[in-house]
Amino acid sequence: MQIKLWINNKEFNDDIAPDMLLLDFIRSKGFLSVKRGCETSNCGLCTVMLDNKPVLSCSALAVRANEKHVTTIEGLEKEALEFGGFLADEGAEQCGFCSPGFIMNVLAMKNELINPSEREIKKYLEGNLCRCTGYMGQLRAIKKYLSRVKEGSYENS
Ligand code: FES
Ligand code: FES
Repeated sequence: MQIKLWINNKEFNDDIAPDMLLLDFIRSKGFLSVKRGCETSNCGLCTVMLDNKPVLSCSALAVRANEKHVTTIEGLEKEALEFGGFLADEGAEQCGFCSPGFIMNVLAMKNELINPSEREIKKYLEGNLCRCTGYMGQLRAIKKYLSRVKEGSYENS
């Protein structure tokens, strides 16, 4: 079947199998930041934005993105680098395998929740697993990043 979609504002027209996963489609186009982890909606590694909402691309068919805009971390480089700096400062990044999916969800949360409490942050990100770090460093990084955004040092887009 024929689909048309945009990944990071670049248009793709393709003839695909109806059961092709969005994860496979995106990776086949070279956006390799989108990782294949559990493939069962449990780890968050494959998170992308679909029309600005986070979705697990291992659990969505590519056809669901027809006529829509997909964003990966390659398309959010500036914001990802800003938040990545906070993660590094808190020692919350080790192998980095989980980072692209985790960062995508933190950026989505920043746009969705106003002044989230610690409980709300944990709830929003409970689907993102990390095999290396405890989650305390990540939490410290998020709080510092959100307070910097609130101060207006970074654009809250
Ligand atoms: S690979 Fe999609 S949630 Fe784990
Ligand atoms: S830093 Fe290694 S899995 Fe999270």
